[in-house]
Amino acid sequence: MDVDFKALTLEEAAAHKADALVFAITDPSDGQTSPPTHGSSSPLAQWVQQVIDSGDLEAGAGKWLMSHSGGQCQARRVVLVRVGDGSPAAVRKGLLGALGALRQPGVKKVVVCTHLAQLQVGAWQAAVVAVADATYAYTTTLSKPKPRSLSSLVFVSDGPVGADAQAEVRVGQAVVEGVELAKEWANRPSNHATPTKLAQAAEKLARCDNVKVEVLGPKEVVKLGMGAFMAVAQGAQEPLRFIVIHYRGADKDQAPVVLVGKGVTFDTGGISIKPAAEMDEMKFDMGGAASVLGTMRTVAVLQPRLNVVAIIPACENMPDGRAVKPGDVVTSMSGQTIEILNTDAEGRLILCDALTYAERFKPACIVDVATLTGACVIALGHVRSGLFTESEELAQGLLQAGERALDLCWRMPLDDEYAEGLKTNFADMANVAGRAGGAVSAAKFLQKFTQSQQWAHLDIAGTAWKSGTSKGATGRPVGLLVAFLLAQQGQTAKRKSKSTRKGD
Ligand code: BES
Ligand code: MN
Ligand code: ZN
Repeated sequence: MDVDFKALTLEEAAAHKADALVFAITDPSDGQTSPPTHGSSSPLAQWVQQVIDSGDLEAGAGKWLMSHSGGQCQARRVVLVRVGDGSPAAVRKGLLGALGALRQPGVKKVVVCTHLAQLQVGAWQAAVVAVADATYAYTTTLSKPKPRSLSSLVFVSDGPVGADAQAEVRVGQAVVEGVELAKEWANRPSNHATPTKLAQAAEKLARCDNVKVEVLGPKEVVKLGMGAFMAVAQGAQEPLRFIVIHYRGADKDQAPVVLVGKGVTFDTGGISIKPAAEMDEMKFDMGGAASVLGTMRTVAVLQPRLNVVAIIPACENMPDGRAVKPGDVVTSMSGQTIEILNTDAEGRLILCDALTYAERFKPACIVDVATLTGACVIALGHVRSGLFTESEELAQGLLQAGERALDLCWRMPLDDEYAEGLKTNFADMANVAGRAGGAVSAAKFLQKFTQSQQWAHLDIAGTAWKSGTSKGATGRPVGLLVAFLLAQQGQTAKRKSKSTRKGD
């Protein structure tokens, strides 16, 4: 999807060749009944003014009205859409609705007129991401795919837009690349997204500047002593992969941010097998891995000044004659032993070894991302991801990144009492506690492997995909992670200039 800017008057915009003309309209501000069409005498501008004055296009983000243009402009379709106060969230809401209505085969080029809108900081980036979200189409396993028809998006306004808006669009486009890579891999059925195929997708990233990819197989993983990861993978015919992606955008000695993504390419539950209903959705159980992969794609495009390492433990969780059984005790890479009381609590088993592995990079911080618990879906629904961390700085960094990217999370507790249920007589810990507070006890389990680290955990079980008729991956939390990483770049730059000053 190309994105472009053009400085055009309303009359010129009307004469511009396009399949649809979208007018983004902010709500009238105090003392003003409606945004002016600049006294334009063009029939189209007058018609737009009439519609606004009629009150048929109510204020409030997301209200839209589509009409045949009746020859008033080059484009056959005209959409008027309310973008509220012009904030990123309001613009997202408005454009999701308007572009959703324009999801038609013939709509290839859309012009968005911003003459009647006062857009706030961040709104341009939000607009690009929203348009991409509204027009995304999965195609890989369809014999007659209907790919996205939109290929060109043009923002037009009276005068030239500033460098800030252009930078926002550039970041927005890079985020879209990452989000769509994440959607692609999460949407693929598990037979088209095996650990091996996922590793191949990661290896492709190594074509980008400053990216290196390592892929380990079962032999290396045994050698590393990853007994917890191995225990999950041992019931599957598909071999596991342990994927490590390095991005180096700063000095070698600068501590990296480490991202860890749960890559269970299919979660049957293992011997503690899941019920049949909706089990297909467990193909999305590598949503954490997909989002980490997508984030690395965006990073590779934007080339920020920081170091990032992404770690993806990938395997299937299957029942089998060789599968791990409830009550089995395994030794994790950290040396701690784990009694596997429920083989369906497999995410934490593959993550704990990845978290131990992460230590070797002496990270500035570690953020793991996982479709970890059904309990988190019960707690937070499909709106916010669960955020668990003891670090105030990481909590603020991730919460604010979520706000900026419109990819929200919510901080959850980590009191030690929540770990009580993980006690057992047969190992250092069990892999499950009781049903109550299940998202928190899962996080407490992971915390036992990150004691010496600045660590945060994002439970994306409720946000990584949608069910029902619009079933599909959301690409979350790529937006949040990218926003977090870009802010880290600012942090390290600040720290650097301080130390330079000291050295002067
Ligand atoms: N992948 C699931 C979590 C999940 C379930 C995500 C439903 C989204 C929707 C995870 O591996 C799992 O099965 N967790 C168990 C843990 C339990 C056995 C303690 C769960 O949430 O039921
Ligand atoms: Mn499970
Ligand atoms: Zn799982």
